[in-house]
Amino acid sequence: MTRLWLFLSLLAVGLCSTAQYRLKDIVTGSGSLQGTLELINGTCGPYAGQMPDVATLRLRVECLPTGPHIRIDDPARRRYEVANISVLNEAPLSTCTLYDLTYTEEPFTLTLTRPGTSHLLWKSLPGLVFEDQYIEWTTILGSPETAIYGLGERVGPLRLDMNHTYTIFTRDNGGTPPDVNLNGAHPVWMDLQADGQAHGGMMLNSNGMDVVLTPGDASHVPVVPATMQWRLTGGIVDLYLYPGPSPHDVVRQHTRIVGLPVLMPLWGLGWHQCRWGYKSLDEVKAVVEGYRSANIPLEVQWTDIDYMDAHKDFTFDPAQFPQAAFAAFVEELHTRGQKWVPIIDPAIKAEASHEPFMDGVRGNLFVQDQATGLPLVGAVWPGNTTFPDFSNPATHAYWTKWMRAFHEMAAWDGIWIDMNEPDSFTDVPVGTFLELSGGARPDQPLAEPELPMPRDPPPYLPGGRPLAEHSISPRAVQLAGWHYDLHSLYGHHEAVATNAALAVRTAPRPTLPPRAAQTAPHLGLTRPPPPLLSSTAPLRLPLGLRNVNSSGRYTMHWLGDNYSTFVSMKYSIQGIINFQQYGMPFGRRDHNEIGKISQEPYVFGEPYTAIMRRHINLRYSLISFYYTLLVDSHRTGTPLFNALAWVFPHDPLTHDIDTQFMVGTAILASPALEQGATTVSAYLPADTRWYDFYTGVEAPATGRVTLAAPLETLPLHLAGGHVVPLQEPAMTVAATVAQPVRLLVALDSARHAQGTLYMDDGVSADSVQQAAYTEVLLTAENETLAATIVHHGFPAACERMLRNVTVLGLHPPADMPRDATIVEVSPASATYQYDSANGILTIGLGAGLSLCQEAHISWHFTHTAPAQGFPWWIIVIAVVVCVVGVLLLWLVYRAKTHKRRQPGGYSSVPQVEPTPGSDAPAPSAV
Ligand SMILES: *[C@@H]1O[C@H](CO)[C@@H](O)[C@H](O)[C@H]1NC(C)=O
Ligand SMILES: *[C@@H]1O[C@H](CO)[C@@H](O)[C@H](O)[C@H]1NC(C)=O
Ligand SMILES: *[C@@H]1O[C@H](CO)[C@@H](O)[C@H](O)[C@H]1NC(C)=O
Ligand SMILES: *[C@@H]1O[C@H](CO)[C@@H](O)[C@H](O)[C@H]1NC(C)=O
Ligand SMILES: *[C@@H]1O[C@H](CO)[C@@H](O)[C@H](O)[C@H]1NC(C)=O
Ligand SMILES: *[C@@H]1O[C@H](CO)[C@@H](O)[C@H](O)[C@H]1NC(C)=O
Ligand SMILES: *[C@@H]1O[C@H](CO)[C@@H](O)[C@H](O)[C@H]1NC(C)=O
Repeated sequence: MTRLWLFLSLLAVGLCSTAQYRLKDIVTGSGSLQGTLELINGTCGPYAGQMPDVATLRLRVECLPTGPHIRIDDPARRRYEVANISVLNEAPLSTCTLYDLTYTEEPFTLTLTRPGTSHLLWKSLPGLVFEDQYIEWTTILGSPETAIYGLGERVGPLRLDMNHTYTIFTRDNGGTPPDVNLNGAHPVWMDLQADGQAHGGMMLNSNGMDVVLTPGDASHVPVVPATMQWRLTGGIVDLYLYPGPSPHDVVRQHTRIVGLPVLMPLWGLGWHQCRWGYKSLDEVKAVVEGYRSANIPLEVQWTDIDYMDAHKDFTFDPAQFPQAAFAAFVEELHTRGQKWVPIIDPAIKAEASHEPFMDGVRGNLFVQDQATGLPLVGAVWPGNTTFPDFSNPATHAYWTKWMRAFHEMAAWDGIWIDMNEPDSFTDVPVGTFLELSGGARPDQPLAEPELPMPRDPPPYLPGGRPLAEHSISPRAVQLAGWHYDLHSLYGHHEAVATNAALAVRTAPRPTLPPRAAQTAPHLGLTRPPPPLLSSTAPLRLPLGLRNVNSSGRYTMHWLGDNYSTFVSMKYSIQGIINFQQYGMPFGRRDHNEIGKISQEPYVFGEPYTAIMRRHINLRYSLISFYYTLLVDSHRTGTPLFNALAWVFPHDPLTHDIDTQFMVGTAILASPALEQGATTVSAYLPADTRWYDFYTGVEAPATGRVTLAAPLETLPLHLAGGHVVPLQEPAMTVAATVAQPVRLLVALDSARHAQGTLYMDDGVSADSVQQAAYTEVLLTAENETLAATIVHHGFPAACERMLRNVTVLGLHPPADMPRDATIVEVSPASATYQYDSANGILTIGLGAGLSLCQEAHISWHFTHTAPAQGFPWWIIVIAVVVCVVGVLLLWLVYRAKTHKRRQPGGYSSVPQVEPTPGSDAPAPSAV
């Protein structure tokens, strides 16, 4: 009986765990498809008992310049959707050649392939569940060996484990435990196939979700495909697919949809020092001084909540961080070209005497408690707090107002926004609001959202932890809707508001104009920036081209509260690489927790401080290289940091490497990631020449190699084919970029290399748009390094000098003997040295060549023997000797014959020149 029941229930699950739909009213176009999905087989989704499957859905597939866009929604009933969408300034494509689209009507399935191939972009299984708070749709992955990246934020292997459920829902998880959802929400993935072809996509949905990866089985007959199942707890299916075919194409297609990364200020690339637990302004000053006396660059000093008065935003602790003294300290930093970035938490202390609180109450700008209709009270660092509702545009004006007031107290340069998962130490209001506000209340509570109040807990709970845990209630009310739908957008909305507030900064230095307001920069580092923008007006979505601006347009990201451990260092590689994919190319600093031992580089003593100084200096010496990459990322979306797999996708051995990374595509770092390690096992993809970054010597072997990695050395390689600019490190990035440039020219096997050098003032927000930059293309080809001016709009570039060139991997060309060597370098004023054993040519250009002018530097090889200047004088002497010799002989002969003739007649003995090496008898001498 039990057995029969089991069988029946299994059968029931098999038949009816996922509802099926029939596609009808089909309208097809080139790359597009519209139709109605009608539920068949009754309502049998997993939660049908609580919330019936939607009977009729609307399907639209359209073609965007980036690839297909699939949307499934309910035409009859409003649902939440992520919606602040702007139209790209591009005409829609009349035809879409990026994919082939096929479908089945009953049951409905959809298949998108790369044209003319079987490469799957999306192939849905027959089931589709579409219920109130649960959507489930499954796609088959192209092959069981496929590598999936993304679905963040989390720490764990870069290449995702295929037997795992990935939760996406912003949560502050101290210590960043592996494999669970962390601070950011990025429902974005990349699928890299074993043949090197990549595609990817984004599920534009801000609700908590699980993405279930299930491995395939290639050995099974028939082959069991790997699958990716989306389990969304609300919203709609809004799927952007990116056909690639290279990993970089996938990232660029994504940034084209969500917006290109904001251009950070140049100073953002410098060294940043932060900690929680600086006890006084004097201690902070001592840190800045500690760096200075240790001769270590410090670009930006950050301060955590310690500086605040009782942890209240927009205040200074009068005893330990008095405001006037702090303002003077910041001015002092500025005179040295340094910056200050303070933390500002979103939560506002609920206290009648705290004016930012009362201001927010009057404006009704706080997230509201559903039950009381009053601002919701949570608990963050200052104790009882309320949460600004950043989905309300009025809150942006409020935020700017207080940021301005704060800037007048001390002239901050950027803002660190934290705790915006949003984080609350309890979801239970610990006090009654009116008690805290002294009876003050908003005039008019926010209207409850039109959408029905979500069930909490929802029938399906992503990640299995209560939604409100360490956060606020999903039933809290915001202007844009239920917190349930907006939770993972809270940090993003705060980033948008904070970015706008950056406009209040006055010119930091007379010589460095501030970046302008909205595209401005900054290290408004946010913790949880999802790639999505929310809406106060759902369902106003015209089909067509869209540009959903992501957090990367407003801010950078930091990787949560990890530890100073080797494993956290290892995971930071994966974190930084993943965020490239999400359109947030940058974000890192030295941070520390309260109560832990200090970790500023100078406290360690020798040899450690020297090692750290050397590596910070190394970073500074590459600042122009980093900045050029950062600008490229801003202009095109191309990642600044790369996984080896994204640069060498056709080499499947790279696909799961996450212990090495590339800066751009030119520099490969292979750090030792285990304590005490003195060697590191690294992978150097074949078919590329690799050079030791420090010595310029070509790596003797490619493939898996063991590199020396003593504590004092970070193993770095230069990839052939790249030109990398280097400068002497100075104490700030601004001083460094003004230094003379030395180019490292790493030749590939075709004796070719290329790179660019981008220069602007480092601070204006619109340098790119205003063309106020100078860009130099550097190409080594035909034994010549050419500097070509692509654009010249930054006058100061003319004062910057190209002073040295080092060519790596330079051996005589194939049509010359191996001992051919360099005979000439032009311009003629250049000095040079050629290390023929290692193929390294170092060229000095004297005072240097201006970097706003075209330049050519060339070198010539020639054969050693004839080339060394043929010794003509030896021939001349030989000829003279011969002539004289012959003359003498002739004279002697004449004398002899004359003698013989005289007494004894003629004797003809021929005179033979001695032939060296011949056995001929020496001629009878005279
Ligand atoms: C689903 O319904 C269709 C017709 O609407 C029927 O042909 C099919 O057998 C049903 N499938 C199941 C599993 O009940
Ligand atoms: C997205 O960013 C672009 C470029 O900065 C801007 O023009 C556009 O208004 C933004 N869109 C939204 C919806 O904010
Ligand atoms: C998948 O994961 C589950 C649970 O972690 C484990 O029991 C199972 O063996 C795994 N399957 C495979 C194929 O690795
Ligand atoms: C959405 O866009 C509108 C118009 O661009 C803007 O006024 C509003 O502030 C945006 N909402 C959010 C939450 O950013
Ligand atoms: C929060 O407010 C309540 C009510 O006024 C009060 O009892 C409680 O002590 C406050 N909590 C903190 C941490 O200040
Ligand atoms: C380099 O040499 C090749 C072959 O002679 C020629 O086709 C090419 O144009 C040359 N390139 C430059 C930049 O002179
Ligand atoms: C650069 O070239 C100059 C001469 O032009 C030389 O004095 C200097 O040592 C060179 N610097 C490097 C780093 O090679």
